[in-house]
Amino acid sequence: MLPQAPISNLDAYRASGGGAGLERARQLGGPGVIEEVRRSGLRGRGGAGFPTGIKWRGAVTGPEPRAVVCNAAEGEPGTLKDRTILSRDPYRVLEGIAIAALAVGASSAYVGIKARFQEQIDRVEKAAAEMGQAGLLENLDLRLVDGPDDYLFGVETAMLEVIQGNDPLPRLVPPYIQGLIGRDGTEFATVVNNVETLANVPGIISNGADWYRSVGTERSPGTMVFTVTGDVRTPTITELALGTPLSFLIYGEGGGMADGRNPKLAVSGVSNRPLTAAELDTPLSFEALEAIGSGLGSGGFLVYDDRTCAVEVGAVLSDFLQRGSCGQCPPCKLGTTAFARGFHRIMDGQSSLEEVEELTAWISRVTDANRCGLGAGQRELATGILVNFAGDVAACLAGTCPGHRGLPFPT
Ligand SMILES: Cc1cc2nc3c(=O)[nH]c(=O)nc-3n(C[C@H](O)[C@H](O)[C@H](O)COP(=O)(O)O)c2cc1C
Ligand code: SF4
Repeated sequence: MLPQAPISNLDAYRASGGGAGLERARQLGGPGVIEEVRRSGLRGRGGAGFPTGIKWRGAVTGPEPRAVVCNAAEGEPGTLKDRTILSRDPYRVLEGIAIAALAVGASSAYVGIKARFQEQIDRVEKAAAEMGQAGLLENLDLRLVDGPDDYLFGVETAMLEVIQGNDPLPRLVPPYIQGLIGRDGTEFATVVNNVETLANVPGIISNGADWYRSVGTERSPGTMVFTVTGDVRTPTITELALGTPLSFLIYGEGGGMADGRNPKLAVSGVSNRPLTAAELDTPLSFEALEAIGSGLGSGGFLVYDDRTCAVEVGAVLSDFLQRGSCGQCPPCKLGTTAFARGFHRIMDGQSSLEEVEELTAWISRVTDANRCGLGAGQRELATGILVNFAGDVAACLAGTCPGHRGLPFPT
């Protein structure tokens, strides 16, 4: 799915088989496309792994008009795959959008992308112009919407708000209950999908669901574009079959740990329980990571070596969540603030057992009445640090922690 070198123009895309998915989609019609995607088992690559066919089937039960939104906000720390896909092959993503629109009967489509991603914006604009002229965009009203740098821009309901000209503040209800609302008040039944999810669609439709299922696992079919960064020798963005062990990503693709060190912990974004060194052989599939109480997220792994104090990782990632939290749900803002401050106090030797107990109480409260998943991410991160790396917490409290590295604020 991810070409080794950038596809430079539409002719090159067509020469690599581009356009065949849309052609077959026209033959299959909307219900046929949705059934093929459902049978393929494609799961969303934006973090939650929701089955795409089921999402699309739900969208067509609602009234028209309908809209498709491509989520290109990519804000998860340590994840660079959507930008890589858009840089190398914007055509495939646009074809995926056109097929999605055909499937759900949408007349308009949006690409929500950070204004900072100028290279990708240029690539998408050029590709869209070429494909529109060649009749490969199904007369779609396709618009690029430049968004802010906020982490919350990637939350699907916040992206809908930005498309409507508002700030990136998540809504109370998901897009399948309330979609985009036009200036005249018309409501669009709206499907939001991640860049990589949509990039998988042309291949599924042109080659069929069985072809797609020939790699990956039963519950996580296909491939995924992974990012591995942190203390690995060669930070890498690479496409692997789902089910490949995480250790292959770290050692086979990332070149192992720099300076001959050993890994200590790996985090797949800020929303999942960090993995310990003993868990690094876990298969990269939604079900295997869920089974050990973590998650695949958007496939971006930050791997830290054995010099690292897990409390420091908890502190910098909680800083990120605390700044990202918009405060619409007080338990999220107060809880992320408590964790950021609490982890820093533990690190700095200013905390106590009683304080850590108080901090632990936030685990069950930080998610109360939340509009989006940020608070749940904080819960998973904090639980993992406090429980799985209790030795590091104890060492910081006892003043025997070997030290902190000055880890940067995550981007
Ligand atoms: C705090 C937060 C940040 C998110 N950031 C992104 C993002 O940058 N890109 C993305 O595609 N999805 C992101 N998501 C997930 C989206 O809300 C949504 O689930 C996704 O775009 C759906 O597409 P998919 O089904 O194809 O995965 C984020 C969710 C949360 C809670
Ligand atoms: S859960 Fe947190 S980030 Fe999400 S809407 Fe509520 S306050 Fe904002």
